[in-house]
Amino acid sequence: METTTYPKAVIVIFGATGDLAKRKLYPSIHRLFNNNQIGDEFAVIGVARRPWTNDLFREKVKESIQTPITTDEEIDSFTSHFYYHPFDVTDKSSFQDLMSLMNDLDGQYRTEGNRMFYLAMAPEFFGTIAQNIQEYGLKETNGWTRLVIEKPFGHNFESAKKLNDELREAFDEKQIYRIDHYLGKEMVQNIEVIRFANAIFEHLWNNRFISNIQITSSELLGVEDRGKYYESSGALRDMVQNHMLQMVALLAMEPPIKLTTDEVRSEKVKALRSIRPLTKQSTFDHFVRGQYGKGEIEEEHVDGYREDPNVDSESNTETFVAGKIMIDNYRWAGVPFYIRTGKRMKEKLTKIVVEFKDLPMNLYNNGSGKKQTNLLVIHIQPDEGITLHLNAKQSDGTRTIIPIQLDYCNNCINGINTPEAYEKLIYDCMNGDATNFTHWDEVALSWQFVDTISKAWESQKAEFPNYTSGSMGPDDADKLLEKDGFNWW
Ligand code: BG6
Repeated sequence: METTTYPKAVIVIFGATGDLAKRKLYPSIHRLFNNNQIGDEFAVIGVARRPWTNDLFREKVKESIQTPITTDEEIDSFTSHFYYHPFDVTDKSSFQDLMSLMNDLDGQYRTEGNRMFYLAMAPEFFGTIAQNIQEYGLKETNGWTRLVIEKPFGHNFESAKKLNDELREAFDEKQIYRIDHYLGKEMVQNIEVIRFANAIFEHLWNNRFISNIQITSSELLGVEDRGKYYESSGALRDMVQNHMLQMVALLAMEPPIKLTTDEVRSEKVKALRSIRPLTKQSTFDHFVRGQYGKGEIEEEHVDGYREDPNVDSESNTETFVAGKIMIDNYRWAGVPFYIRTGKRMKEKLTKIVVEFKDLPMNLYNNGSGKKQTNLLVIHIQPDEGITLHLNAKQSDGTRTIIPIQLDYCNNCINGINTPEAYEKLIYDCMNGDATNFTHWDEVALSWQFVDTISKAWESQKAEFPNYTSGSMGPDDADKLLEKDGFNWW
């Protein structure tokens, strides 16, 4: 009889009472449990300042679970793996007590000494926690030890490096799993497969056949209750430094020689290294910033960013970024990668559009002289799938062409079972697969690129607000493409 080997571990979540743990981590662990991807050999220790009990913690975990639960017994059997440990980051005895709880649970759940430390809390404590984990011997075990770290990973290159140096005093690079939750999204993971498993795309995937690539990630929501964090971050640090540049790297990289973590990451690093560095002047030429004013979202009035109680009424923080990125290598010379992301836009959507060049001497048009461009659209969310925009003949005896679309919808087929990003990432980490986590070299290169933009923007006050809530951003974002003869799709 075949026996299933499940990953085993004691998972310690720092920031167990926080929003991320509640919204993403507990539901994801539950889905792994429910889908039989983890067995019974795991325990979760929730760590935070509040004086909760195990019972209260289990109650909160239960409330956070979104999957329909069949029986109370099932849910109780899941939450019985959860333990709460009130904690003071700066107190030695907190770490010592945590160690003895970990050791007990290790024996009880037969987790073979495997330990995952998940930092889902205020970043100012990342370094201290990592160092205390080391100092108080929490890493001394016969099993594996991994550190999962949430963003923000620093505020600029310098602070990211400082944080990384602190982490590296306690953990090896191979033990550090830096989360970028976009890398857990089904269709972001599909980029590599679409490219490297399809001859019809990869052969055309270069500057001879592609005119430009556009990545849009728009949100309906404003900054909600995160105004304070967002004031010091802005869309550039919040979305571009990580998610947007990661998608650029996946679209631009060369095929890896093997599908191993090191090979994939090294190709991504190479792609990021090929991005043309900006200057202050080229930042203003190639990047557009925006901030939402009041407007209407789904027929409801919404306030502007500066009206948020946690935001400076004269705030210079951008809630929108559009930019043109050039990649100076043999494959991509001359092909702009346009990115666009913002809050309080017209819709919640992430998609990639690959626009192909027209054929030489294409004699066909739609009857009014217009040609339909071939596009490959990769829908990341909320739809998941691919659409190919092609031309076909109109059945009217003329030579007129009509646009047609070939669609593949991923989440229509898999339905609600498409795994959540966090679910996949937690599972990967438990199995020691770091491919979909960011290596320090990627983080460093992304910060160096983004730092030039933030410095340029900080040197000049912007004319904000410059886009209406519910729109697709400021007009300058459209002009950015118009200058090059393109438009956003
Ligand atoms: C996070 C940002 O990293 O990504 C948020 O901090 C943003 O501001 C979120 O809303 C977007 O993620 P998703 O998965 O909803 O596109």
